[in-house]
Amino acid sequence: MSIQQIGSSWLLHTQNTTYAFGLNSLGLLVHQYWGPRIASPSALPPAPESEGWASFNHPEHLLPEEYPAWAGMKFVEPCLKVTAHDQVRDTVLVFQDSQAEVDDLPHLVITLQDPVYALRVRLHYRVHAESDIIERWAELVNDSAAPIRLERAFSVQWHPPAGTAYRFSHLYGRWNDEFHLVRETLTPGVKVIESRRLTTSHHHNPWFALDGGDASETQGEVWFGALGWSGNWKLCAEDTGFASTRLSLGVNDFDFAWDLQPGETFTTPSAYAGYTQEGFGAASRCLHQLIRSRLIPHPRALHPVLYNSWEATLFDVDAPSQIRLAQLAAQMGVELFVMDDGWFKGRRDDRAGLGDWSPDPLKFPHGLNPLIQQVTALGMRFGLWVEPEMVNPDSDLYRAHPDWVLHFPTRQRRTGRNQLILNLARPDVQAHLNQMLDELLSQHDISFIKWDMNRAVSEPGWPDAPRDPREMWVRYTHGLYHILETLRSRHPQVTFQSCSGGGGRADLGVLRYADQIWVSDNTEAAARLRIQEGFSQLFPAQVMEAWVTDANRGQIPLSFRFHVSMCGSLGIGGNLTQWSPQERAEAAHWIAVYKDIRPIIQFGSQFRLRSPSQSPFSAVQYLSEDGAAGVLFAFRTHLPDPAALPPLRLQGLDPQALYAVEGVPEPHSGAYWMHTGLPLVLGNFESALLRITRLP
Ligand code: DGJ
Repeated sequence: MSIQQIGSSWLLHTQNTTYAFGLNSLGLLVHQYWGPRIASPSALPPAPESEGWASFNHPEHLLPEEYPAWAGMKFVEPCLKVTAHDQVRDTVLVFQDSQAEVDDLPHLVITLQDPVYALRVRLHYRVHAESDIIERWAELVNDSAAPIRLERAFSVQWHPPAGTAYRFSHLYGRWNDEFHLVRETLTPGVKVIESRRLTTSHHHNPWFALDGGDASETQGEVWFGALGWSGNWKLCAEDTGFASTRLSLGVNDFDFAWDLQPGETFTTPSAYAGYTQEGFGAASRCLHQLIRSRLIPHPRALHPVLYNSWEATLFDVDAPSQIRLAQLAAQMGVELFVMDDGWFKGRRDDRAGLGDWSPDPLKFPHGLNPLIQQVTALGMRFGLWVEPEMVNPDSDLYRAHPDWVLHFPTRQRRTGRNQLILNLARPDVQAHLNQMLDELLSQHDISFIKWDMNRAVSEPGWPDAPRDPREMWVRYTHGLYHILETLRSRHPQVTFQSCSGGGGRADLGVLRYADQIWVSDNTEAAARLRIQEGFSQLFPAQVMEAWVTDANRGQIPLSFRFHVSMCGSLGIGGNLTQWSPQERAEAAHWIAVYKDIRPIIQFGSQFRLRSPSQSPFSAVQYLSEDGAAGVLFAFRTHLPDPAALPPLRLQGLDPQALYAVEGVPEPHSGAYWMHTGLPLVLGNFESALLRITRLP
């Protein structure tokens, strides 16, 4: 049984873990336990009480409430901060009831209420037993006759066990340099990471891992999680200074306000978190499994090998240039041809055209269909780039609807990459984009959409907003999801890719609509190894699109560049008209190899054997779902000679079973490969792709 009630405690059991909370004697909902699965209820610690008294540190300050509201003598980060109609800013949430929700997963709802102000909080808990993950979100319901202003409405507060000095792992970066992994010990105070940029952002990601400082890739306790949200977000990792740590996560409260009218409900995005005793690698695999089994729209569809024409033609797109590339791509075995930026009306460069999503009459006098027919006649599917959230001031759409962009009337409308942001919070903008994109998909045989978003926000105003204009931050993301959801339901066969100048919109929220993420505009092979390692902390290889481009051409072997991209969903992005017949023949070889191994990479488990950010000799391994087949990629970047490379210790094998590793004459047991390891000889910028086979 996944959800168990014992007295006034609830235990949520996953395959390997238990998460428990309950009521204390004051009727407050407090956290009790999060760790290895509890076999007997007697192992459950009691619900914490607020006992004792001190003028400056009242015990309620330290109570690990599941969803603390700002009130009383609590100075820790709250989940909820509200102002009532009478300006009272003190919210007391007491238990009302619990109920099981009808769902395909075990799902519990705990209702708390502020009895004076009739603010009801419905805390949702869903149990993803097979991935050891708990999903949580909150609904805030105004049952009163007066509005209530929400000033902070986080999704969760997570409580790892008290008494440990935690190390906090998170991801930071910037455009072209995303997903750096950093691990730092928390000290008393609050460490905040966030986005105020309207998107998830390249700079930080709403993902975390906490450990006691001693976890490794393969061992140790790790508490980890992520937020499913593609707008502004905030994560507060707080060491209270009283031997307890808490992690709060949700929609950013910076410049946030939401007027909850009588009868209305505000629903927070979902947050997901889990626990493992098997280190950071296992933590990542739990999230990978969750994403693959519960989030992405087409979990069992193998991604085709794609070609993207962006780096080859930039804005100089026309039918002949695309057909030439398509012919070469098809000869190499590419299955999906994607035309990137530059195809629509007036798009000569990045100064014009965004907003006018009809084919440019000069470049495509007969529309896109003749090109699409030629691509499909070559045996490939067709994909298209769009950037629907944006408008260039030099566009028909902007000339017709200058009021549709985010702006403040008294301020200059500053552009980023010469573009302004359509206010997706507006229902008329949503309706327009829905209609325009629906027409595009209905009138063309398109099976893939690369959805881009290429600037950070400025002047986030909504002058004619019907409510508080600061609701824009949340309504914009809801608008984006609404459009994606509408298109997906009308065109379920279309695969969407989330791109924001590379990895600026990579999160568990957008993955409910998009099957893939464009990880970075940086396609340099060595840089990409590091970026892919960071990305893999939370995202599986299946959603990671990776192109072989002309970056490092002539410097790093094509095989190395292919191996890097084969660690995800393989794509090609170079200018094929410049590639020699030998390069194209070699590319065709690697594409054929990839097609053979891609079920292992896209559906299997991933093991990071050696870190490219910590060593110039790195390796990553994939194992099929049934454990019978694997693939190992090893990379040596620069390492002065002579350098004996340490044996690679494989992971995830059955210790008793026999495995053959390509290139090694003798098979060995799983235990041998995992403990003695595989010797490899690689020169600088050499790589290896070796198959692993379990013998009968
Ligand atoms: C940014 C993307 O990351 C690139 O791949 C490309 O699509 C350009 N935008 C096109 O403007």
